[in-house]
Amino acid sequence: MSNLPRHVAIIMDGNGRWAQQRGKARVRGHERGAEVIRDILTFAAHHDEIEYMTLYAFSTENWKRPKAEVDFLMRLLSRYLKKELHVYLENDVSFNAIGDLSRFSPSVQALIHDTERQTAHCKGLKHYFALNYGAQDEIIRALNSLRENQTDITKDSLSAALDAPEAVDLMIRTGGDHRLSNFLLWQAAYAELFFTRTLWPDFTAHELQSIINQFKSVERRFGGL
Ligand code: FPP
Repeated sequence: MSNLPRHVAIIMDGNGRWAQQRGKARVRGHERGAEVIRDILTFAAHHDEIEYMTLYAFSTENWKRPKAEVDFLMRLLSRYLKKELHVYLENDVSFNAIGDLSRFSPSVQALIHDTERQTAHCKGLKHYFALNYGAQDEIIRALNSLRENQTDITKDSLSAALDAPEAVDLMIRTGGDHRLSNFLLWQAAYAELFFTRTLWPDFTAHELQSIINQFKSVERRFGGL
């Protein structure tokens, strides 16, 4: 059984607290958080064992935040996609959005699809960015698409119909909480879960490597002996 961190998924939590601890507006934490994404993706792109990295950027529940914060996150997303395109291209990373994109404005949707198209040829790391994502919503959309196509529902057919079909090996949550918050519930069936108190804006490639080292020392039995 594989103890390789082929698919690493991260719940990036703690941006607001990071900013508040510094007497800054919460959105400054999101801004810093976006910069950390670049470091972590670049690290993953050069890590021989990581093939997929999924980051939880915006959940189906995040629309409930104050409008000013949601608006800021939308502007930050647009800025991020424009500014970081070269990082994807230089590191051979493909950008793949997962989630229900229909709720985003047409201009944000166009930018997301444009980034996907421009990085589609990149064959190094496959990066999934979860946007208006919820695992329950993903599973329901997958089931409906199988029903529409009159496909038998099996473990394999359902997996293949998900936005991100690959099983997660290592799931990390920053920010100190011990919850999965509706992230990759199907794919994480046998994932090792790691929770760190580090707030996302303080998370580093060094800490990720240390978590990977711990992950590799765990014996994964997948229900066997
Ligand atoms: C959680 O922090 C973080 C998010 C809402 C999503 C992650 C967003 C980023 C890393 C910024 C980059 C995002 C885009 C869209 C480019 P929180 O606000 O819940 O922190 P708290 O728990 O301390 O309040």
